[in-house]
Amino acid sequence: MGATGDRKQDQRETFRADDPCEGPLTTDQGVEVDHTDDSLAAGERGPTLMEDFHFREKLTHFDHERIPERVVHARGAGAYGYFEPYESLAEYTRAAFLQDPSVRTPVFVRFSTVQGPKGSADTVRDVRGFATKFYTSEGNYDLVGNNMPVFFIQDGIKFPDFVHAVKPEPHNDIPTGASAHDTLWDFVSLQPETTHMMMWLMSDRAIPRSYRMMQGFGVHTFRFVNAEGRGTFVKFHWKPKLGAHSLVWDEAQECQGRDPDFNRRDLWDAIERGDYPEWELGVQLVPEDDEFAFDFDLLDATKIIPEEQVPVRPVGRMVLDRNPENFFAETEQVAFHTANVVPGIDFTNDPLLQARNFSYLDTQLIRLGGPNFAQLPVNRPVTPVRTNQRDGYGQSRIHRGTNYFPNSLGGGCPAHAGVDGKAFTHYAERVDGAKIRRRSPSFQDHYSQAALFWNSMADWEKRHIVAAFRFELGKVGTVEVRERMVENLGKVDPELASAVAEGIGVAAPSGDGQSASKLSSPALSLESLRGDGS
Ligand code: HEM
Repeated sequence: MGATGDRKQDQRETFRADDPCEGPLTTDQGVEVDHTDDSLAAGERGPTLMEDFHFREKLTHFDHERIPERVVHARGAGAYGYFEPYESLAEYTRAAFLQDPSVRTPVFVRFSTVQGPKGSADTVRDVRGFATKFYTSEGNYDLVGNNMPVFFIQDGIKFPDFVHAVKPEPHNDIPTGASAHDTLWDFVSLQPETTHMMMWLMSDRAIPRSYRMMQGFGVHTFRFVNAEGRGTFVKFHWKPKLGAHSLVWDEAQECQGRDPDFNRRDLWDAIERGDYPEWELGVQLVPEDDEFAFDFDLLDATKIIPEEQVPVRPVGRMVLDRNPENFFAETEQVAFHTANVVPGIDFTNDPLLQARNFSYLDTQLIRLGGPNFAQLPVNRPVTPVRTNQRDGYGQSRIHRGTNYFPNSLGGGCPAHAGVDGKAFTHYAERVDGAKIRRRSPSFQDHYSQAALFWNSMADWEKRHIVAAFRFELGKVGTVEVRERMVENLGKVDPELASAVAEGIGVAAPSGDGQSASKLSSPALSLESLRGDGS
């Protein structure tokens, strides 16, 4: 055990630069500099000389200070902390960090907005990212989640289309911030699988008061695998100790003007004053034999598993107790990836998850400048790293010996034989079928859970949702898009659709008796859904 008792913190200490400066300024080559206020010139009023290596190095480094921002989730805030399980989960998973309540695993968490650029405001209506890197004794495990339990699309091949629709319009880059524009609503009205997530997005969950008061969800169905190789489906939930709280829309907008860093500042300040935010990790466990016991597909990321059907079981807690020391080095350079798993946690065939397992590494190769970003301090595991990978931009290690396997000349890392159960072995799921490019029929119901969500709302929450739809759709210039969206909402709930239609100047849907909530909800009067939404 190192000096601090936290393996990640001990490792970070070894990377700390000698800042603040304790001696005179030097160049990158370590040569002391006598003067940094004036460039070297030929005569007092003459041209700057090429020979001034300090001037050139200083400017060149500055010119290269920026890296690309994340293609989504560009704006964020992060913190270090720890996770500890309440009890052993050995019955379900062999993941080492879920075995022993006395073992604390260091973590780094990054919260983010999704749509806006790095310099946008915190309190916009948007999904929030909730990504956790566990520095476990078996390597890094990343749980890359959001603050809503479902997602917009079912298959990752639609992700570029979706993000292109969400982002500012291509010709003028307007608007940033709120999601109110024609392209988004055009896309979602044509892609009804988005309906459930759009209900969440128009709810108060999309304007959290604080990152400390936000739930988190792994969204996909993942798989636990125990030491005997038995799999169990699992959904992950983070529950904030402070409870889940939101802003109201007027507050959110005022915060955007008065303090665009409202959520980032809140997190930072709370940790600085020792008011450490805490979350409970919960799991919903489904035996593999029950894979088809639901009226939705467990592989469909637009669906929750209702808690009445499978309760959330609390399994551990996470505390964030240290702010990063350098935003760029840590919060900006951290690289989360759904494919960073440890033995005992595995994937399912959720087609959204499968796409993510490709996308994160791919984007980080360009965002972080080549294949060695796992060596950056924030990304480094606390376990030994032995690979046969070499070279590339940003290589910071001095490898010795040869780098291939099999190898009789010395060097080259062999793969672990797996006999002691330490190595990752992929879950031996049986797959069978012809190649096919078609959405499974089991993914086709887009409205039942949207209605379930709507029906679970209190009257005031329903009013907020209607007000949000009116505000956002009211900005859409294309009447057909507004009409199509209202038509979709009619399939969720006729009163919802009518209330929205009335606020945005289109006709309410004809009502063919097909709404998903028709039988399940006592109808709320249109009158009660009117109002200012406050
Ligand atoms: C960030 C792709 C769906 C949560 C990102 C990034 C990409 C990406 C390329 C930027 C990563 C980086 O530059 O380091 C995708 C694709 C998806 C998808 C292709 C669907 C196929 C989701 C879903 C969730 C999610 C369903 C939540 C469950 C996040 C989070 C981040 C992120 C939290 C920010 C990570 C950070 O803080 O650095 N995603 N994403 N994404 N994504 Fe996704």
